Amino acid sequence: MALENQQADWWKSTVFYHIYIRSFYDSNGDGIGDLQGIIDHLDYVKDLGAGAIWVSPFVESPQKDFGYDISNYTTVSPLFGDMDLFDCLLQEVHRRDMKLILDLVLNHTSDQHPWFLESASSRDNPKADWYVWKDGKGRKGKKYPNNWRAMSGNRAWNYHPQREQFYYSGFLPFQPDLNYNNPEVKEAIFDMVRFWLEKGVDGFRLDIISAIYEDPNLTNNPCTWKLFPSDHSLTILFQNLKHNFLQEKSFGFATELRQVVDEYSDRFIIGETHGDEQEIKKFCQYQGQDGLHAIFLFKAISTPFKAKSYYQLIKVFEEHFAEPLMPTYVFGNHDRVRIMKRLGNQKDKSRLHTLFQFTVRGVPFIYYGEEIGMTQARIPLKQAQDPIGIRNQFIPQFIVNLSMESLNRDECRTPMQWNSKSNAGFCPEDVKPWLPVSLDYPTVNVAYESSQKQSLLNFYKQCLTLRNETPALHSGSLTLIDALCNKHLLSYSRERESDYFLIILNLSNNVEKIPSISGDITLCTHDYPSEKALDPWEGRVIKINKNTSFLLKNNPFQ
Ligand code: GLC
Repeated sequence: MALENQQADWWKSTVFYHIYIRSFYDSNGDGIGDLQGIIDHLDYVKDLGAGAIWVSPFVESPQKDFGYDISNYTTVSPLFGDMDLFDCLLQEVHRRDMKLILDLVLNHTSDQHPWFLESASSRDNPKADWYVWKDGKGRKGKKYPNNWRAMSGNRAWNYHPQREQFYYSGFLPFQPDLNYNNPEVKEAIFDMVRFWLEKGVDGFRLDIISAIYEDPNLTNNPCTWKLFPSDHSLTILFQNLKHNFLQEKSFGFATELRQVVDEYSDRFIIGETHGDEQEIKKFCQYQGQDGLHAIFLFKAISTPFKAKSYYQLIKVFEEHFAEPLMPTYVFGNHDRVRIMKRLGNQKDKSRLHTLFQFTVRGVPFIYYGEEIGMTQARIPLKQAQDPIGIRNQFIPQFIVNLSMESLNRDECRTPMQWNSKSNAGFCPEDVKPWLPVSLDYPTVNVAYESSQKQSLLNFYKQCLTLRNETPALHSGSLTLIDALCNKHLLSYSRERESDYFLIILNLSNNVEKIPSISGDITLCTHDYPSEKALDPWEGRVIKINKNTSFLLKNNPFQ
């Protein structure tokens, strides 16, 4: 590969670390994480082996959705620092030869953004058409323009008495959608994007990119039997959101945004979207043009950790995201139930899962704290600060406890657990952190796990070191080895030039027989791997002599 391409493709071989800024490290003792707190812990992230950081929004915002309600796109909120501190963060990231991507909330602003305040003030002000305004139905014009629901379940139309019209919000009512049919809006937003690119940021994570455009004909959405949203389709409360999400024009928008980003070299954009792979891959390639470099493939989050399900997952991702595309493997974020809880809080499963995430072909994203096994905290809905949690307060707590959906997102956003002091070292001991620290912090924390050879944290480091040092693992091709896959076993190879690695995982509680495989075990979840069997939840990475690899493909049990 030419050097130029290698630089542009840096994201393909990099591990990303996702920092939810409010919860990472509080450097000034106000109970809320901040930019300085990130700067102070860059060495930690580097030492873990991550090459890029995605930081959640830190610009000005009323914080009703904790930064995803922006009131000024280009000023740093005093809650987190100032622009000098941001410049320092960027410099420090680059000094460590790492990359920094920001969270871009393009679909909507806060209802406190001056653009919206102006737009809402009358029907004929200069920004009157910057948001999606429609007349209501009925004699008094107070009935919803159509039946659309927002992604968060509420009605997507909100009556505004001053304009005597409805404005549209694809998420919560205080997050009005910008009107991208208006070229002035697009221009203002692209200028803002250039502002950050000029500063030198390495790219962006694009918040609900599936929501940019809506059907201009306002066609009513059809019903479905599905109550909850899923990672495969955009549905909520028995409605399929097919007319207000995933519009063809939004795919086109991705290509326009790519052109802006490509005015600068080596930048990267990744989008948040849900839906069927066949459909959402259009965000990456649309009508022969490049769009986003990658998208989050959330199907991985809700796929049960079973050999057959993961086999199928790899197959689908490989089919749709073959080179030059690349799948992503993301198992948690600030909206979703933490992976540790999904794995039943079982440490052995989580080691195996880690081995999988960093050996499969794709871009891995670590959500802060996953590397120490932070799990979903228990925060009663009545104490929710998350606006979604507040909306869900009518749901009985026992249902919340049973659910694997995030009904109160506070629970996956608790402070990072740095040590065993009270407040887990996140903020001073006499300060109340903005969210309670998870109760397991005395043993689930960075300091303790660093001192334990067998800890999950040290296993993450081993996996990331091996991945970073092994081109076949971060950039090689992947082949599922059918002959070594069954109800319990999952096996695949990673291959590049003369390097051939076999990854074999036992996703079960049973001891599983395997053929004797001649090769060197370069990494294993367990200490004493036996020759002809895998222990429960054991996984291995085996470096195999290229000459014998064909035997493995053909008849491994001989
Ligand atoms: C995305 C964010 C989420 C936010 C929502 C609205 O899904 O990840 O945290 O609440 O968009 O911006």
